[in-house]
Amino acid sequence: MTEKIVLAYSGGLDTSVATKWLQEERGYEVHCLTVDLGNLPDMEGAQRRGEEAGALSVDVIDAKADFLNYFVFPALQANALYQGEYPLATALGRPLIGKLLVDKARELGATAVAHGCTGKGNDQVRLDVAITTLAPDLTIIGTARENEMSRDAAIEYATKHGISVRQTLASPYSTDENLWGRSVECGELEDPWAEPPEGVWSWTTDPGSAPDEPAILEISFEQGIPVAIDGERLDPVTLVQRLSDLGGKHGIGRVDMVEDRLVGIKSREIYEAPAAVTLITAHKALEQLTLAKPQIRMKERVAQEYADLVYNGLWYTGHHRDLAAYVQSSQQDVTGEVRIRLWRGTTTVLGKQAAYSLYSKELATYGDDDLFDQKAAQGFIKLHGLSVQVQAHRQLLRESKDLLHLAAPERDGESD
Ligand code: ARG
Repeated sequence: MTEKIVLAYSGGLDTSVATKWLQEERGYEVHCLTVDLGNLPDMEGAQRRGEEAGALSVDVIDAKADFLNYFVFPALQANALYQGEYPLATALGRPLIGKLLVDKARELGATAVAHGCTGKGNDQVRLDVAITTLAPDLTIIGTARENEMSRDAAIEYATKHGISVRQTLASPYSTDENLWGRSVECGELEDPWAEPPEGVWSWTTDPGSAPDEPAILEISFEQGIPVAIDGERLDPVTLVQRLSDLGGKHGIGRVDMVEDRLVGIKSREIYEAPAAVTLITAHKALEQLTLAKPQIRMKERVAQEYADLVYNGLWYTGHHRDLAAYVQSSQQDVTGEVRIRLWRGTTTVLGKQAAYSLYSKELATYGDDDLFDQKAAQGFIKLHGLSVQVQAHRQLLRESKDLLHLAAPERDGESD
């Protein structure tokens, strides 16, 4: 009996070719699975190409809500940004796609799953690790890794087998899109000195030609989860999509960086993530009011660790479960509103309030209603500065009288 394989299918050239190739070269009965995480281009064309390529079934699963609730929002609560900039849209999608591939394979009694990720990227790692973790018995075929077809060879293969090639093929970039953001690599971007050509951007207006009139909105959070815009309660998909559209119009969320891939390559990447950038900015502002200083510090460290593990494909791990538990616990009082301005590529927080805010006007004020005991500061400073004084007199001042060069040596040409 012919063995079945489930292919993670985007509808693009590579996975359409893979559909045929898995039948011809590997003898599988191919079932295509497209996971809709939002912003999928050309779904109908994709379906058609899958059938043209001889897939026995082409299914689309709408996983948008699960994606936001179980993958994106926990990362938002953590303020996860890889290397301080990338909101991880592509990376967050992979463990879910891996799980849905496994579910489909089980449903069909398939013995294998396949994807079209290249052998140089992070996505293959994320998918393979997720799949082997959830289903060690399934064979994994990375079609691009194994057939090593060039772009031209893929086009030729498609034409030969009657698979229609979509016009956007003219695009020299490799892209990936979902609700949390759009990722672009390859082509002219490979030169980090070259400014990204305007055609790279697709969701966001150039900040220079964005509307002069800003958008000012109020975002409500409950325990670190965004729930409403301007007082209107919205389901997660509508809320994120709305911020994505509005932010895009105002040129918010453009990221241009050289990042360190897991496989050791430095790579120039472009991201468009208007909703992610807006929400992370607002969420951090609310945490300023609702978290104590050591919680904020710890959360910054956790954010880095969290971003790394998501980036590195370690979603289904105990380390992740434990970090996520800390993040969840930290969000208990992160409930409130943030007023934010989107204007020409910038997000500016204009105001914030929270029911359980730690901010106390009576302590902060310089006005008459001041409750802070200024005299108590003297005693505090005496103890705070005690060890500083001891060290300076016993050690530091032995070498130099005024400590001017404590942090940097004397520069050439400086007179003293
Ligand atoms: N460098 C990003 C990441 O590793 C984006 C990958 C984009 N994927 C793609 N198929 N174009 O998460």
